[in-house]
Amino acid sequence: MKLETPLVVLNFKTYIEATGENAVRIAEICGDISRETGISIIAVPQLPDIYAVADTGVPVFSQHIDGIGSGSYTGHVLAESVRDAGATGTLINHSERRLTLADIDAAIGAARRTGLTTIVCSNNVATTRAAAALGPDFVAVEPPELIGTGIPVSSADPDVVTGSVDAVLGIDPGVRVLCGAGISKGEDMRAALELGTVGVLLASGIIRAPDPKTALMDLISGIE
Ligand code: G3P
Repeated sequence: MKLETPLVVLNFKTYIEATGENAVRIAEICGDISRETGISIIAVPQLPDIYAVADTGVPVFSQHIDGIGSGSYTGHVLAESVRDAGATGTLINHSERRLTLADIDAAIGAARRTGLTTIVCSNNVATTRAAAALGPDFVAVEPPELIGTGIPVSSADPDVVTGSVDAVLGIDPGVRVLCGAGISKGEDMRAALELGTVGVLLASGIIRAPDPKTALMDLISGIE
């Protein structure tokens, strides 16, 4: 699925503020703002909430899938199951759910098998280069040390972003680059786009905001 960019990918993680009915509430906020602004916003809830969040009409990605097929894989995540629950894509190798290179490759294969769009997460230019070589749809570079700090990667470490954009261009220009970690404001969004990405991957700046709708509108305001 070719996603319109710029792109905002909102990771609900395991924040209690974004589970169950709260996941649906935040998804509805994403849908309202996406319709008002025309900006693509993807919700990334926990597995049990995929179906209810997808039912709001907002595009949904899974936080993870495994590179497995049908069979005896207790506790793993089958790509077909998240697709049938309403997801249209998935994160792979988030820093909080790290995989080996072989696992990432297998997960991309499972996503391709089921038509899921893939965002492979990386933590620096070298891992971005390796991820791009596997041919995902997107790579999202996120220095783990900035995650959850409110210190945006777009200003704290712009070189990791521009370096990742350049690295991916040299490997597969068809792979698009996102960045994340500490992103929360319109100025962070604008900076990320100016550094050559097509959007952002974020979580706490919106999910844990006193008013997630106001926080998301401020983020979007950074897109001219
Ligand atoms: O998946 C995005 C996430 O890792 C970034 O976290 O809280 O810094 O926006 P946060």
